Amino acid sequence: MISARPKFSAALDFVTNIPASPVVTLAGVEMAYDGGEDIFAPLDLTLSQGEFLTLIGPSGCGKSTLLKLIAHVVKPTAGTIHWWGADATGLNGHDKKLAFVFQDPTLMPWATVAANVRLPLDLAGISEASAERRVMEALAHVGLSECAMHYPRQLSGGMKMRVSIARALVTEPDLLLMDEPFGALDEFTRNRLDADLSRLCRERGITTVFVTHSIYEAAFLSTRVAVMAARPGRIIETYELDHSLVRDASFRLQSGFSDACRVLSRALVDASLPGAEQ
Ligand SMILES: Nc1ncnc2c1ncn2[C@@H]1O[C@H](COP(=O)(O)OP(=O)(O)O)[C@@H](O)[C@H]1O
Ligand SMILES: [Mg+2]
Repeated sequence: MISARPKFSAALDFVTNIPASPVVTLAGVEMAYDGGEDIFAPLDLTLSQGEFLTLIGPSGCGKSTLLKLIAHVVKPTAGTIHWWGADATGLNGHDKKLAFVFQDPTLMPWATVAANVRLPLDLAGISEASAERRVMEALAHVGLSECAMHYPRQLSGGMKMRVSIARALVTEPDLLLMDEPFGALDEFTRNRLDADLSRLCRERGITTVFVTHSIYEAAFLSTRVAVMAARPGRIIETYELDHSLVRDASFRLQSGFSDACRVLSRALVDASLPGAEQ
């Protein structure tokens, strides 16, 4: 993994004050689907408490697979994955919570917004009174308190995505994994949800790994961006951004934001060139 710090740090006030305790550690991880080719060159990645890491890179480089490895949805064929210092094979007994948000909000159409958000609590056997309170808190966080009794068909695409985020937050996750969650939304809605997401993750200290095709979204949200290339899938550059800056609408007007967009845009072009494939 190359850390391209000097060039970027000048433009973005590079900081090193992200707390060091690792949330997830991948060491020498390899992975193949059903006896197929290896997806990754042996992959190393350390995720620190409270950081917002964004993965960008060309289609097929393994971003979704990397999220699934972190979530332990798929198993590595070599190497180790540790969650909070413990081997990920012991996840069942782990007290840490993970939430996964996909591009499609996948709501139950026959159930109200409140019932959709309550689903993970119902599955976990949380008492009704406690679940109701947590559902209403989560809906308030995403600005949907008024819609608790609505059905998904009554909501816009952006509102459905908010429900999906509320359903992830209701479990009070320690680690949030998001795979192109706002990719299907218009830019205006996406910008608003990005600002909300940044605020929520910051307020709650949630460690997040986020996948996007948008360098603007990456530059806006992240404390760190990892640029991946394909065949084999690998992280070719990482960039650290000043996470002390609040990511609100005014952040988009700052020179640091446009500098970051320019550098990430260039890095993504380089990662997509045929020469980036080995
Ligand atoms: N379920 C699967 N079975 C077999 N191959 C897969 C599966 N999912 C992804 N792949 C392959 O793994 C590689 C990485 O895919 P993926 O992680 O989806 O990349 P990305 O999210 O960056 O587009 C691709 O070559 C893809 O075709
Ligand atoms: Mg993907």
